[in-house]
Amino acid sequence: MEKKPTVQVTFDGQRLDLPEGENLAAALLAAGIQTFRHTAKTGAPRGPFCMMGACFDCLIEIDGTVRQACMLEVQPGLQIARPSAGGGDHDPE
Ligand code: FES
Repeated sequence: MEKKPTVQVTFDGQRLDLPEGENLAAALLAAGIQTFRHTAKTGAPRGPFCMMGACFDCLIEIDGTVRQACMLEVQPGLQIARPSAGGGDHDPE
């Protein structure tokens, strides 16, 4: 399999080189990032689970907007952060 060219992004201020066009959640997992957010009530760590837009455990913040990482592709210059308030109203706990 041919290796894709990488582009620079940041995750919580850490520079990462990720393969351009790859699924963002998969690329972050492959880079060793497993915790994408923490729940608002208990602070429990959450990371991608379904990889198809159903569970909302992959919520991240990009340019101030909370989005599902599994529904995005890696693009140059993404400024990614863990959502500060847990990532939304999708937590049962
Ligand atoms: S991993 Fe479930 S919505 Fe993204």
